[in-house]
Amino acid sequence: MATKPRILVSRQVFPEVIERLRGHFEVDDNQADVVLGVEGLKARLADKAGVMTAVSDPVTAEVIGAAPGLKAVCNFAVGYNNIDLGACSKAGVMATNTPGVLDDTTADLAWALLMASARHIQASEHWLRAGKWQGFKMTDWLGADVHHATLGILGMGRIGQAVARRSLGFDMKVIYHNRSPLPQDKEAACRATWVDKETLLREADFLVLVLPYSPATHHVIGAAELALMKPTAHLINIARGGIVDDAALISALRQRRLSGAGLDVFEGEPKLNPGFLELDNVTLTPHIGSSSRATRMAMAMTAADNLIAALSGRRPPNLVNTEVWQ
Ligand code: DGY
Repeated sequence: MATKPRILVSRQVFPEVIERLRGHFEVDDNQADVVLGVEGLKARLADKAGVMTAVSDPVTAEVIGAAPGLKAVCNFAVGYNNIDLGACSKAGVMATNTPGVLDDTTADLAWALLMASARHIQASEHWLRAGKWQGFKMTDWLGADVHHATLGILGMGRIGQAVARRSLGFDMKVIYHNRSPLPQDKEAACRATWVDKETLLREADFLVLVLPYSPATHHVIGAAELALMKPTAHLINIARGGIVDDAALISALRQRRLSGAGLDVFEGEPKLNPGFLELDNVTLTPHIGSSSRATRMAMAMTAADNLIAALSGRRPPNLVNTEVWQ
């Protein structure tokens, strides 16, 4: 009987996923969920043909170099800035992601953060829990109206469009900036209008960031961009840490040059700039954009589909570095 290819699943996943993979592969799992890092990945990948990775796994050139038999890196995420794509392509290693299955869940979280920021949900709850509420008061926790406000979206891919579609019930004006405008039917479905980046920054009451991270999008929102925003505006980041200059954002929030922020991702996460912890006008969540059970299951199963296809000689459905496929 032919031996099965050996794979690594780098982080804890649902048992159903491991079971499915065991039907095809000899699986080295990590159900103890120890974060492996570069050295751990190098050690565990030396004898593997494939790996299922998470955004927390640095798949660097050094890691790829230490895995001579590696054919596929299948990320359990839509973003893949944790993978050195150039190094993968150079070594003929296929890299894949999980687009589509997490759009709605991630858009839902953008809205949760937006509403929380607009209405001081998190800060007022902390105040209440601390026993500070003396009774109803006309001027307690005055928030911003979401309905009829202007929603700005930077990055209008599938998740950006899902965020925009959810605004229809709030009768918002929707503007967006992308390298190029969407086709008319897609714009119409979200009632959204393309504007240049400066107009987006100046006019949005709520600005949602949905860009992939790359060197080109590093600190796309820094001090100069924050200075263009309305002092009453709120910034929501569900994309990646590093897109926003966190130190500049903290300074703008501290000085109330920006009303509030809702953040799911951070520069250097899981470490946070401690400045955020001193602010009551920022709502913080620990990179849970795609974290519903159904969606995380769908992501893991999509990554498994990619791995199974890649290691059985078929083109994986979500190949990112398409140049490796001849
Ligand atoms: C993604 O898919 O890129 C998310 O950030 C991980 O949940």
